[in-house]
Amino acid sequence: MQRVSSVEQLRQSVAAWRAAGDRIALVPTMGNLHDGHMALFRQAYKHAKRLIVSSFVNPMQFGPSEDYERYPRTPDADSEILRRSGCDILFAPDVNEVYPRGLAFATRVQVPGFSEILDGEFRPGHFEGVASVVMRLFSIVQPNVAIFGEKDYQQLLVIRRMAADLFLPVEIVGSPTVRAPDGLALSSRNIYLSEDERAIAPKLYEELRRVAVAIDTDDESAKDLQALETEARRNLRAFGFKVEYFTIRSANTLLTPSLSESELVILVAARLGRARLIDNTRATRP
Ligand code: PAJ
Repeated sequence: MQRVSSVEQLRQSVAAWRAAGDRIALVPTMGNLHDGHMALFRQAYKHAKRLIVSSFVNPMQFGPSEDYERYPRTPDADSEILRRSGCDILFAPDVNEVYPRGLAFATRVQVPGFSEILDGEFRPGHFEGVASVVMRLFSIVQPNVAIFGEKDYQQLLVIRRMAADLFLPVEIVGSPTVRAPDGLALSSRNIYLSEDERAIAPKLYEELRRVAVAIDTDDESAKDLQALETEARRNLRAFGFKVEYFTIRSANTLLTPSLSESELVILVAARLGRARLIDNTRATRP
């Protein structure tokens, strides 16, 4: 595996593969790799011969009071995981390489509609930061395919919309959420949980599934989504979560679903101690 930190060097390596006609996959990450990321690497090899993993903690997507400084950085462990995954290139640029003119003067990408709601409401500017860095990574690498986790469902839709809207010649592939045996979605931010909080955290997914099963199987519940949301928020609060949102939306638009829409997604963001957890699950109305 090659470890590359400059755009110039990356372009040279990729040029040879492209000339040989190899399909190239990109998996963007912020490092601190876990089994959730590794599932994306396996997915990538189903779609491409070459795998480039980027590792970049992107300052533009963190709010002023968020965890940019203390976000876990584990470069040595990451390199080892990537070597074992058969990754061809680890692209780990400095902030100056990605934003040569500084953050204040960086060109930005906005994806209206998907960006201001849900996580975008609670983290203003977050999805602009995500879209802007992913656009840069796409321009640098020019991959044929890029893999994103369904764990960050809204992020996946933001990137899909950006790629479609800007006619980017890249296929966006979603990959299922990887969970701990007790159901908690794997996340770098789970390290912020104390032992007691870690024991409570799986309730988030339990509640998502309880609501999903009610929608899937019970006609009456499926008609009154607001009642389901209210009950779920109450249950999570009783466990000690500070719920930012627990909401049932159209899986394609993230808007409040009309009665005729059957493909739904249930999304939650909640704080537990120092950790902010997000998760989601799909449901299909009969
Ligand atoms: P990061 O949180 O490191 O996640 C990188 C990719 O891994 C994302 O596509 C995310 O959805 C996916 N992922 C994380 N946990 C997962 C899990 N438990 N199961 C499946 N996939 C999982 O998301 C980001 O970084 C950044 O916003 C990024 C896209 C790199 C832009 O900076």
